[in-house]
Amino acid sequence: MLEKIRQTADYLKSCVDDMPRIAIILGTGLGALVDHIDNKQYIPYTEIPNFPLSTVEGHSGNLIFGTLGGKRVMAMQGRFHYYEGYDMKQVTFPVRVMKALGVETLFVSNAAGGMNKDFIVGDVMVITDHINLFPENPLRGKNYNELGPRFPAMTEPYSKRLIAVADKIASDKQIRLMHGVYVGTPGPTFETPAEYEYFRIIGGDAVGMSTVPEVIVARHADMEVFGVSVITDLGGKDITEVPSHEDVQKAAVVAQPKVVSIIKELIERI
Ligand code: HPA
Repeated sequence: MLEKIRQTADYLKSCVDDMPRIAIILGTGLGALVDHIDNKQYIPYTEIPNFPLSTVEGHSGNLIFGTLGGKRVMAMQGRFHYYEGYDMKQVTFPVRVMKALGVETLFVSNAAGGMNKDFIVGDVMVITDHINLFPENPLRGKNYNELGPRFPAMTEPYSKRLIAVADKIASDKQIRLMHGVYVGTPGPTFETPAEYEYFRIIGGDAVGMSTVPEVIVARHADMEVFGVSVITDLGGKDITEVPSHEDVQKAAVVAQPKVVSIIKELIERI
């Protein structure tokens, strides 16, 4: 694994002059952030050694290097989901490569179903914590001390410092910004009414099929993490609307200007 990470990082270093300290993983329907990146250099996943290929609809599969909010950034346009069949090491491989390139701060975005009864579709939720319900932890197996400790603490998975800055930005811009706990599930099924209810009872505010593996690996590698969910549908005992991938994408697209504005401004201010 160390050799693969080195190979991929070396390849990217040979393509890109100025390596960023900031990386962004763009979730479903949140690709518009790319339009705000200047001096873009696209590297398709197909050209990157050891990179898995993105298969899900609505994800293009490029690493994008450029400038956002006055800083060098790299963005993943399309992420690897566990439900697509990748194993946890493949899902999180890009985060290992980011670290090897010198990335210190990771921004993650996703679409999620809301269980919190105060949420409405289109809300943006800063992830304050998560519950890992994936069947496997990405750190299972041999630990490479070069990458991080065997038993990493998860006391502050999402940076309190960055959350505080985001809150300030949201209040300056009058964006309704919710806080909540993200429940990470393997998917690909959306939840049954009883499952949404169960996730709410155990402390979840939103549920989705990504993010948790990448955040675990980023924290293992001691990166600072900021995560945000767009609430694209609501679930629970009393909710009868049927979520679909198309509706999730549409709702994310409508909400994305809020996410774009928060992430862009956050990058400017840190
Ligand atoms: N459940 C799981 N994943 C999701 C949902 C949901 O309701 N909405 C968007 N991604």
